[in-house]
Amino acid sequence: MNQAQIALYNEVLKIRPLPGALLDIGCGDTSFIQNLARALPLAQVTGLDIALPKRAVAPSVSFVAGDAAKLPFTSESFDVISSCMSMHHWGDKRAGLAEAHRALTLGGWLLIADPLKKGWLENRVLGWTVERLDGGRFIGHGELASTLNELGFEGVSVELIPKSLGSLSLIKARKP
Ligand SMILES: C[S@@+](CC[C@H](N)C(=O)[O-])C[C@H]1O[C@@H](n2cnc3c(N)ncnc32)[C@H](O)[C@@H]1O
Repeated sequence: MNQAQIALYNEVLKIRPLPGALLDIGCGDTSFIQNLARALPLAQVTGLDIALPKRAVAPSVSFVAGDAAKLPFTSESFDVISSCMSMHHWGDKRAGLAEAHRALTLGGWLLIADPLKKGWLENRVLGWTVERLDGGRFIGHGELASTLNELGFEGVSVELIPKSLGSLSLIKARKP
């Protein structure tokens, strides 16, 4: 696992009670959620991605094709929603975060690992260089925190992931 995945994995496993149902948005090839499924053998682990995985999905996890902005799940379906290095690709981040809020159970946690813009230097590095290479669009720490608060999340926290480039952040928010 990379630094973002390790940070997210550790955070998911700190949640008590352990999640009974977990959704990972932008799960890619599902390898990350297969690790989570091994650590949470009683949980129902689902990955969603706008693209189909390039290899077979392990039987321990479910894969659903879909867009973060329109989750194909009923409200209050998941105790934890995670997302690793995907949010900066979402065309409509606010819609994706609102959908995560809708799909979480009361008391459920949203846990995201993604680079955030913070200041002039990061804006230049992320905004001008990485966005061109990566094709995503990064948002600022403040913009993300206020969007999460407006959508009704509480306990919003953002911390830097150690041993990363200085902008990779772990974002946590709870649906009250
Ligand atoms: C950099 S990859 C990260 C994959 C995986 N989370 C990981 O850590 O290896 C970003 C993923 O987000 C997915 N993605 C991009 N936009 C999306 C959207 N609007 N809804 C769902 N998934 C999306 C991409 O298809 C891709 O698999």
